[in-house]
Parts: sequence; C-alpha cells; structure tokens
Amino acid sequence: MIQNFTTVRTVSELRQVIGEWRRAGLSVGLVPTMGALHEGHFSLVDRSVMENDRTCVSLFVNPKQFSPTEDFDLYPRNEAADAQALQCRGANVLFAPLVEEMYPADAATSVSVPGLGDVLEGEFRDGFFTGVATVVSKLLIQSMADRAYFGDKDYQQLRVIRRLTADLNIPVQIIGCPIIREEDGLALSSRNAYLTTEERAIAPALYTVLLKMVAAIQSGADSASAVQDGTQHLLSVGFMKVDYLAVVDPETLLPLSSATGPCRVLGAAWLGKTRLIDNVGV
Ligand code: PAF
Repeated sequence: MIQNFTTVRTVSELRQVIGEWRRAGLSVGLVPTMGALHEGHFSLVDRSVMENDRTCVSLFVNPKQFSPTEDFDLYPRNEAADAQALQCRGANVLFAPLVEEMYPADAATSVSVPGLGDVLEGEFRDGFFTGVATVVSKLLIQSMADRAYFGDKDYQQLRVIRRLTADLNIPVQIIGCPIIREEDGLALSSRNAYLTTEERAIAPALYTVLLKMVAAIQSGADSASAVQDGTQHLLSVGFMKVDYLAVVDPETLLPLSSATGPCRVLGAAWLGKTRLIDNVGV
C-alpha cells in the first residue's frame, strides 16, 4: 500500500500534522522505534494501521537510554530504508527528530519508575529505564496518539510504560504486541545484526532455555533450580555470561519461588559482544 507519507523532524511540525488529523476526527496510532526496522517493528506498524485512521512512527536513537559503555555509536541506523519500508506498510508520518530537538541544552526533567525500573534490566543497565521512560513520555505527549504500540519482546519496558502512562494520566492506550521470532525461535531484534555466523547459530538457545524453564516450573520444579539448570545450559552451549534468568510475577516483576499462577520467565545473556534478551509468558 503506497500512500501519502511524510518525514518531520520537529515537535511543532509533528503537532501540525497530527493536529490536522485530530481536527478531522481521525484516530492516531504511534509506534515508537529506534529504527533499523525489522518484522518485529512492522508487526506493530501493521497493527496500528489496522486499528487507527493514521499511523505515526518515531525513529530516535535515544542517547539517554544508553550507558557510556553501551553501543550508542554502533547502533544500526538506516533512515532512508526505514522510511521507504514504512511507506509501503501504510504508515503516514515518520517523526525523526535530532537529539537537540528532543533534549534542548536547558532540558532538566526526567521520568523514572522506581521499583519496576530497578529490577532485572534495571540492575544491569544503569539509567536505562529512566532514559526509556523519559523519551516515551515525551513521545506520547508530543504525538497525543490514541494508541501506542510496543513489543512484548521488551516485556519489562512495556510494564514500565504502562505504569508511567497511568501515573502521569497520559490519555493513550498502551498496546502490547506478541514477540516475532525467526523460524529457529530467536526473537527479532535490531541487535541480532551484531551476531557472527557462529553466534547466530547458538542464539536460539536462549528461547529454548526459557521454554525448558517454563516446562520445568509447570511440572513442579522450583524457580531456583530452573534458573540454575537454565544458566548451566546457556554457558555450556557458548553463551559467555548470563546476566539473569528469572521467574517473576507478570505485573510486579517480583521474583516467584514457584509457579502456582501466572508468571513470566525472562532472560538476558551475552553471546560474544552481543547482549540478547527474551521472555515467555506462563
Ligand atoms: O524499544 C525501543 O526501541 C526503545 O526503547 C523505545 C521504546 C523506542 C524508546 O526509545
């Protein structure tokens, strides 16, 4: 589907485009991204196009969610290809601001979500969720979208975003969408591009381990032994380091010692220089 598509770089241009839509009574969906789009992102765009009259995709590699030792400079960027693909998918506007537009030199406000943002990823990625919560709050307010779409792949991020949206009374519906996987189970991620051929062959083991953990706890094993077995398995197949494997409450993300009700099994592990994350619902 090829249709009117435009790229804007400033908040005032974005507000002008979206303001016209809103005055015409059209509903607006937002898909926040950092670009390097893949089928995981496109599944969010497809859903937004289906559920809204107009779809805005943001592309902003947010420096505030990268620590100084992370891959901000290396993060894959290809705006021209992303824009072309988005137009084909039926999106209407790409919001691709410069860093100075999102964070003017005198900007002083940040949004943090203690508790949900401190555990799991928060323990290993200093400042990550404050960076995410700040930029997502800004994008939601800048776009005033009716609905915003995020992948379950970043499950903790989705929980943090639901919390901040409720706490700040931002009038948007947050929609979580299923993880899109390669045929061998590897969850799609822009960072998969960093994997060498050898690492790519090992990478699906993270998902396999999460599924094994689910099977183990469903058949009565306690979380600690499922985590221990899972960690050993990942290290034995070639993962360098396991940041965490965890069985948690799907709402609070607090650890569960066994699975008597709904829970989420999450993991983060390093393959060479690439950090992979994944999760499975129980
Ligand atoms: O999931 C991502 O790509 C980013 O964390 C997001 C939500 C676009 C915020 O920068």
